[in-house]
Amino acid sequence: MQMGVSSIQMLSVLLVCVASTKQTEGSYALKMWSKGDHAFREQLALMYKEIEALRHDQSLMKQKQEDMTQAVMHCTQMQADTYKEVNVTSLEKGSTSMLYSFSQEEEGDVNDEGLNPCYSYKSLNQDWRATNYSTRQVSCDRNVKWNGWYRLFYRGKSIQMPELCVKRERCGTHAPLWLVGGHPRKRDGIVTRKICGHWNNNCCAFQSPPIQVKACQGNYYVYKFVQPLACHLAYCADVNTLVCGKCKKNEICTSKDKIRWFCKKTKRRVKAKVHFFAAYPGSLSGKVNQIRYSKVYVNVGGAFNRLTGVFTAPVKGIYQFFFSTQAARTGRKTDLWLVVNGYWVSVSHTHVSVSNTVGALSTYMTTLRKGALVYVTHNCGNSYANSASNTIVFGGSLLLAQT
Ligand SMILES: *[C@@H]1O[C@H](CO)[C@@H](O)[C@H](O)[C@H]1NC(C)=O
Ligand SMILES: *[C@@H]1O[C@H](CO)[C@@H](O)[C@H](O)[C@H]1NC(C)=O
Repeated sequence: MQMGVSSIQMLSVLLVCVASTKQTEGSYALKMWSKGDHAFREQLALMYKEIEALRHDQSLMKQKQEDMTQAVMHCTQMQADTYKEVNVTSLEKGSTSMLYSFSQEEEGDVNDEGLNPCYSYKSLNQDWRATNYSTRQVSCDRNVKWNGWYRLFYRGKSIQMPELCVKRERCGTHAPLWLVGGHPRKRDGIVTRKICGHWNNNCCAFQSPPIQVKACQGNYYVYKFVQPLACHLAYCADVNTLVCGKCKKNEICTSKDKIRWFCKKTKRRVKAKVHFFAAYPGSLSGKVNQIRYSKVYVNVGGAFNRLTGVFTAPVKGIYQFFFSTQAARTGRKTDLWLVVNGYWVSVSHTHVSVSNTVGALSTYMTTLRKGALVYVTHNCGNSYANSASNTIVFGGSLLLAQT
């Protein structure tokens, strides 16, 4: 813990803060903070008071640091014993507790130590970090020796960083730190996000060093916090996201305005594979309402019925079909129709004028709802095939499943 901040450092930090927020009105800012200014003297007095308090805290912190070192050693021992969940110790009047849990790693990113941070984090359970807490006791995360990954809690309940600018003098600090660019999705793995501190109507008056974030199974996030730019800045916990801790397994926590959060069922991604190819093993003449392609070569997904010749779409999606014939006999036209949900949508038309035969292949692509029926009708003419010719065929594939 770096608590021995000199008054000079404190002063310069405050000046940096003012300068960075009043860049366009630099002269005004300097005037405001000139030595004769009442507000400045008041601020200075406050600072000295704070420094005194910090000195006093320093000895306490030293003790805590020793406790923590012991706790970490204890943890390492526990890790070797592979306990699932260990409530190792409680620091600072139950406000900060450390919790390590070691379960089976899920696939995905691991941190520098080869551990998945979703299962290897420290709990940061400090009520004062909440966005609805004002500045009763001003905290500064620059004084914390950040190490590894953290998960935020509020009164023991999972909570997230705000994705929007937070009012100043909230989160138990002067300039609250919020997450720019939002939280990642699980499939994004470990991402790097900018951190901004709000001061004087500038939501990013302090551009704090970026942090790493990871979305975890079970609707929570882990953050790799680092020392912020200056004092007094602190990472925030958004009370509006407390609802996210209640989301079920098949739900995600979402928000349009980043203010009102709610649990929403995740869309199931369909990974259906549907392919079929079948032939009619003989010749057809005249009207055959529904060709029973009985020789089935491919029927992945089992959506084609060889007894009825009907294909039933197993999922909503984009499908492509093809159907063919070999028309014969002089002077007669042969029509094959693709029928989708009772609609005749595509014709394979041939008209042979001399004594000859001709092969015809037609194709059709469409979006189908689940349960849609597709078959081929022989409306007129003659089609030639034998059991080995594969000239009267019908096939199709699901190209893209949709939800
Ligand atoms: C974990 O620590 C907290 C904080 O001290 C305590 O209230 C709780 O009872 C502990 N839980 C277990 C399982 O030891
Ligand atoms: C902050 O919000 C939480 C959750 O809504 C609430 O339980 C708590 O009392 C609030 N705290 C303050 C200081 O308003």
